[in-house]
Amino acid sequence: MLEATKLISIEQTQHSRIAELDAKTLVFGKHFSDHMFLTEYEDGKWHNPRIVPFGNLSMSPSISALHYGQAIFEGMKAHKNEKGEVLIFRPLENQRRMNASAHRMCMPAIPEDIFMEGLTQLLRMDSAWVLADEGCSLYIRPFMFAIDEFLGVRTSNTYRFMIITSPAGPYYKDPVKLKVETEFARAFEGGVGYTKAAGNYGVSLYPTKLANEQGYHQIIWTDAREHKYIEEAGMMNVMFVIGDTLVTPALSTQTILPGKTRDSVLTIARDWNMKIEERRITVQEIIDAQKNGSLKEAFGVGTAATVAHISVIGFEGTDYAIPIGDEHSFSKRAAIHLTKIRKGQTEDIHNWTMKI
Ligand SMILES: Cc1ncc(COP(=O)(O)O)c(C=O)c1O
Repeated sequence: MLEATKLISIEQTQHSRIAELDAKTLVFGKHFSDHMFLTEYEDGKWHNPRIVPFGNLSMSPSISALHYGQAIFEGMKAHKNEKGEVLIFRPLENQRRMNASAHRMCMPAIPEDIFMEGLTQLLRMDSAWVLADEGCSLYIRPFMFAIDEFLGVRTSNTYRFMIITSPAGPYYKDPVKLKVETEFARAFEGGVGYTKAAGNYGVSLYPTKLANEQGYHQIIWTDAREHKYIEEAGMMNVMFVIGDTLVTPALSTQTILPGKTRDSVLTIARDWNMKIEERRITVQEIIDAQKNGSLKEAFGVGTAATVAHISVIGFEGTDYAIPIGDEHSFSKRAAIHLTKIRKGQTEDIHNWTMKI
């Protein structure tokens, strides 16, 4: 195994752009911190891990990721606590999920030491980019792509793994309107729906564009076979409170991304002795529950939004209004609790946060 601590070489930027950053005008995903981490895979090993000033890459137009889609990514956030220390939330879950994506896409695993050392050293260098303002964080984007310079459908022999970071303000401030998708599919059994393969996001763009034109923020995907069962939303897993039970689609079909926030919210619900059901959920069940008043809450959970309350579910041309819970509702309490854990403002009984 590579002794990454010793081997990461560092080239510091001569022109920090931090002074240009303004939390008030921040657009998510548009600004990038001063540095980036990269390493290349060849002959069965990762080589030359390094941190360099953020900037363009020079590549052959023939690299196989551009043509045949061997490209995967991850997403997580760093926050500052009241002392100004940088905290990251369950980073090893991202490393494990990245390797599950890599396995399915025939790509090499990224070892824990390279992932963690690259991440922590990068964040130490760019800690000023972790804004402490209310609702702000630093979004972290690890990604890997195939770099063989070769046209032909086969597994690449060489890869690049990188981490870039982007300062983020609050994500969805208002509750979201979601459309149940009954024509197009994002994932199917036997496919790659459970991975963060870049192609999963490419296929979602057209149906999402149509939903946006109809006034919805995002889609609730349904199963590809019958469009009968709820899967997940664009960048979030979905959860419902029906009666006194927290219900969410099970991961067993392998068509749904196993979200870190999903797991965290389920763990919090278990800690609070809430009844939980992870199972298949039909769209009709949610519509019936809305009609008979037993649907108390509907919300999406994901790194970007933490918890996004769903105010409307559009299904077959009808909009169904969902109650937005008050401060006693499960989703509001879970959102506040999770945010406090991420920011080091409450006891972290599961040791989820890591100080860097
Ligand atoms: C398709 C999809 N589902 C769910 C999620 C939520 O996952 P997580 O909570 O790990 O951010 C994301 C975001 O990464 C996503 O892209």
